[in-house]
Amino acid sequence: MTRQRAKTKATRPKAAGAKQPGLACVILAAGQGTRMRSARAKVLHEVLGRPLVAYPVELAQSLGASPIVAVLGHQKEVVEATLVQRFGPDAVSVVEQKERRGTGHAVQTALPALRGARGIMLVLSGDVPLVQRKSLSALVGAARRYSCLAMLTTVPPDPTGYGRVVRDERGHVLRIVEHKDATAEERALTEINAGVYAAPIEFFREAVKGLGARNAQNEYYLTDVVAHAAQTVGVSTIEADFRDVSGVNDRAQLAEAEAMLRARINADCLAHATLHDPSSITIEPGVVVGVDAEIGRGVVLRGRTRIGHGAKIAEGCILVDTEVGAGAEVRPYTVATEATIGIHTKVGPFAHLRPGAVLAEEAHVGNFVELKKTRLGRGSKANHLTYLGDAIVGDGVNIGAGTITCNYNGYEKSETVIEDGAFIGSDSQLVAPVTVGAKAVVAAGTTVIKNVPAGALAIARAAQTAVAGYADSVARRYGKGTTAKATGPAATATARPTAAAAASSGGSSATPRGGRATRRRPTVSG
Ligand code: UD1
Ligand code: CA
Repeated sequence: MTRQRAKTKATRPKAAGAKQPGLACVILAAGQGTRMRSARAKVLHEVLGRPLVAYPVELAQSLGASPIVAVLGHQKEVVEATLVQRFGPDAVSVVEQKERRGTGHAVQTALPALRGARGIMLVLSGDVPLVQRKSLSALVGAARRYSCLAMLTTVPPDPTGYGRVVRDERGHVLRIVEHKDATAEERALTEINAGVYAAPIEFFREAVKGLGARNAQNEYYLTDVVAHAAQTVGVSTIEADFRDVSGVNDRAQLAEAEAMLRARINADCLAHATLHDPSSITIEPGVVVGVDAEIGRGVVLRGRTRIGHGAKIAEGCILVDTEVGAGAEVRPYTVATEATIGIHTKVGPFAHLRPGAVLAEEAHVGNFVELKKTRLGRGSKANHLTYLGDAIVGDGVNIGAGTITCNYNGYEKSETVIEDGAFIGSDSQLVAPVTVGAKAVVAAGTTVIKNVPAGALAIARAAQTAVAGYADSVARRYGKGTTAKATGPAATATARPTAAAAASSGGSSATPRGGRATRRRPTVSG
């Protein structure tokens, strides 16, 4: 126990989430967010893939706060379920504020949940997502050092709607006045309250006791504790960039918050990676972009995606929870979810990697190729028009154009194994479960239904015959002249019965294959 403590202390400056003794956090998120005009609680609206309420929780965690208490009210169950899903069952204690009687009342409701907690209490708003960790560290530091109330303030381009900071002639903070309660003179003040505070817990316990609701909104304002602090422990202000502390009250502000966070993340990436047309690129907060990576126009990187050193992600790619290895080249319009793209691989354009697609080093996946729960071995290639699902493909395998694993029989999925060095000819179907042995060759157009031994050739096609003079004989039947003139109609005549046969045998119209393939199949079965 003591050893662990010492370790935590030594690494604290860097260790995000290390438990910091004496720091509790209360997150105010009970409001409905009327101005959003939404059936969904405001704090569940998302900024770059995360609900608003997740931002203060992550910040509190990064500061090592414990406990973290969220005050919920409107749609409490849904918000709580979201918190549990994202952070686990024990990360956040939830307190219900049944009647929303103001931010001061919300803190009153939260305090009993802090029980024996001592030290500093940080108050965050569920609707102020972009606060920087360093501002909060400074805030908590000031509250701790001076045992005072520390608050974040800012000077926004338009202070309308915010609480104004009222100072005396020497610049000391006297109180906060809400916009709705402010006189014309007070409304002319440009410095506003960001709604983020830190102070000793005992201060909050004492200060919220005396709150009243005689104001324009008949609410218990948390902002009134500022006047109380001015009379007692003192007030310290820390100025933040308005872009970091702007609150989200309506959808326009939601869009602005997203744009500002996106710009911040992209600016961070530009320190070490190339972004083509950054304003068109979306990188979510949990994404890691490696040194020297190159990101094309319109790329979207979501969730826990990681882009390796020097990897290239070309325009229009959408990668979700996907790992891209160093030096990989992901070509335009590739879509990948929960996939692993190995180092020095080439993927796309227009590839679709679904969950469980794993590409080993130097593998190639080309256009209109879909992989699901499939491992493609080192240096293996599937370059055109292919579906590989539930497959294990060894190293150095060549998968021809139009290859399909038939992994689903309508009831269950089965696995296809293709061992090292095998060659799968174009337009083959591999009916799972099935194994193609090492260095085996599957002839083009084969439907593989039995295991293929290593080194063997699997071929399943009817022998080709050539009917001499066929075209002319058909042309004569239709009363036409020579071969040259009759080519078109003759081709149509042969295609007609075979297309019908393909349809009646349930021919896979969804699979992109040429007319030649469809013609061949009825011949094989007939
Ligand atoms: C608040 C501040 C204002 C500041 C602004 C900064 C007060 C009275 N005013 O105003 O000075 O400039 O933030 O963004 O505090 N909430 C509850 N329970 C309630 C009421 C609110 O949990 O009974 C929550 C809301 O869900 C929200 C947060 O507290 O997450 C702030 O409430 P909101 O109504 O948005 O306050 P503002 O009018 O923005
Ligand atoms: Ca607000």
